[in-house]
Amino acid sequence: IRVEFLDYEVLDDYGWSLDDDDLFRKASHADLDETSHGRLLVHPDESLLEGAENRGFGWPFSCRGGACANCAVYLVEGELSQPANHIMPDDLAERGFRLSCNGYPVSDELRVVFNVKHLAELDDLIL
Ligand code: FES
Repeated sequence: IRVEFLDYEVLDDYGWSLDDDDLFRKASHADLDETSHGRLLVHPDESLLEGAENRGFGWPFSCRGGACANCAVYLVEGELSQPANHIMPDDLAERGFRLSCNGYPVSDELRVVFNVKHLAELDDLIL
């Protein structure tokens, strides 16, 4: 499963929004370092967080059990299943937010913004 990722901090730094249609195109042209924007492969039996870790990336997490939202990501493309979610409210899930510690890819390609825990809506949830 091919994953293209982008760090939310970049959006903050550049003044970009999660809703920008050309977010990943802009990221490709911005000469970002490889931990902020890039691609990785996740195996079907790995959660997105595990996949990132197993390929050498240090994405944020805390409980690893679907209860703290530190590992939250925003889906721009593709879908992640969410077997354990004790914290993400339905309205945020509907907008595309998922927990990467408990997010298993169910599409062949994903585009995600990770590190979205700094977003105001999620800040209140973080334990
Ligand atoms: Fe706590 Fe994922 S690490 S919900």
